[in-house]
Amino acid sequence: MGLSRPQWWSIPSCLLGMLAVLVVRKAYIAEDVMYQVRAYRDQVSQETIVASAAFKQLVVELRKRNKPPALFFLNQHALNMTYNFLCNTAEYENVHDRFIFITLDSTARDSLRKAWPNIAQFYWPTPCLTKPFNFADALYQTIYILRANLAVLLAERGFSFWMMQQDTFWHNDLFAHNLEQLDDSSDMLFDQLGDENQNNLRTGWINGANFFVKASQRTVDFINATANLLQSQYVPDVGVMTMLCHTWGGERINCSYIPHRIANCWEWMFTDQSWPPTIMQMDAETDAGGKLNELAKIGFYFLNDDRKTCNSSAVSLARHRMSTGQVKVNSKTCRSLER
Ligand SMILES: *[C@@H]1O[C@H](CO)[C@@H](O)[C@H](O)[C@H]1NC(C)=O
Ligand SMILES: *[C@@H]1O[C@H](CO)[C@@H](O)[C@H](O)[C@H]1NC(C)=O
Ligand SMILES: *[C@@H]1O[C@H](CO)[C@@H](O)[C@H](O)[C@H]1NC(C)=O
Ligand SMILES: *[C@@H]1O[C@H](CO)[C@@H](O)[C@H](O)[C@H]1NC(C)=O
Repeated sequence: MGLSRPQWWSIPSCLLGMLAVLVVRKAYIAEDVMYQVRAYRDQVSQETIVASAAFKQLVVELRKRNKPPALFFLNQHALNMTYNFLCNTAEYENVHDRFIFITLDSTARDSLRKAWPNIAQFYWPTPCLTKPFNFADALYQTIYILRANLAVLLAERGFSFWMMQQDTFWHNDLFAHNLEQLDDSSDMLFDQLGDENQNNLRTGWINGANFFVKASQRTVDFINATANLLQSQYVPDVGVMTMLCHTWGGERINCSYIPHRIANCWEWMFTDQSWPPTIMQMDAETDAGGKLNELAKIGFYFLNDDRKTCNSSAVSLARHRMSTGQVKVNSKTCRSLER
């Protein structure tokens, strides 16, 4: 399995880009957002998580498993995207056994349990600060912090795991690649932006929707540093991790990247559609409902009229279209997927 590392020349531009992102984001904040984030810090802190019964149960559940789990976050707004994803991945054997959904509100918890009773859950109610627009950003920042803190605790206890997103189409079974068997010199395995084109400056930029953490003291330190930065800076976790991979690289952490032929973004649909990736991420973190409607238009909708049960022939058709390079998109699709 050929894992790629970023090219030397992509690093300076990466760091410059990173800085630009930090500066621009900074200008937009939102002292407000960080104020909100701090107000909810205790609810998502490592101390609170460790002390909870839910976490103890999660550890018991994980000790029973012999393969690294895949963790997903879910709130009530992403339910139909999630059902769609579960219908897609139900096509592959034993894949659902590896999933654990971190449900953030009781509607998400109860609906998922009813529709998919066999999918494991870790319930961690987190306030939905959805009303005033910029408070929604505080919600995302809080979820990034929760994600990082939970990751630190799991890696610290020797659990390796995937962090995944359900806005991803599985053209085939990702787990069949056995990507978890990283070579000794790799600590983390990330999906990346850009493509194989050597001139693409975004190669080696973490996409961050689907990545693997190999438990070790090095990854604990790396993710903990990410968690600490997220609590003081208003930046997405992928921004922090990209920066740390490049600045700590080699000595304190070795970041590897999933080849684009295995994991790619929706931009693949706008190439000549050769080399369909095993998974294709649709970049739909916000407004999952609207995005699903867009995906439906291009053939990635797998639910029956009840909006819950699976239309398995729709999954087969989408897989076939991808295999044969016949996914139909136009420039309007591009704009609507581009957030
Ligand atoms: C990190 O990667 C570099 C370059 O491949 C290698 O020389 C080094 O030994 C690795 N570090 C660890 C701790 O594996
Ligand atoms: C994470 O960082 C904080 C702040 O530096 C530190 O207090 C804590 O012990 C660290 N946790 C781990 C698991 O390394
Ligand atoms: C998904 O749910 C949202 C509301 O939560 C709704 O607006 C949207 O139409 C739904 N999409 C589909 C394809 O069912
Ligand atoms: C299931 O998917 C197929 C293929 O896209 C489609 O022709 C059919 O109408 C769908 N069935 C339902 C109930 O939506």
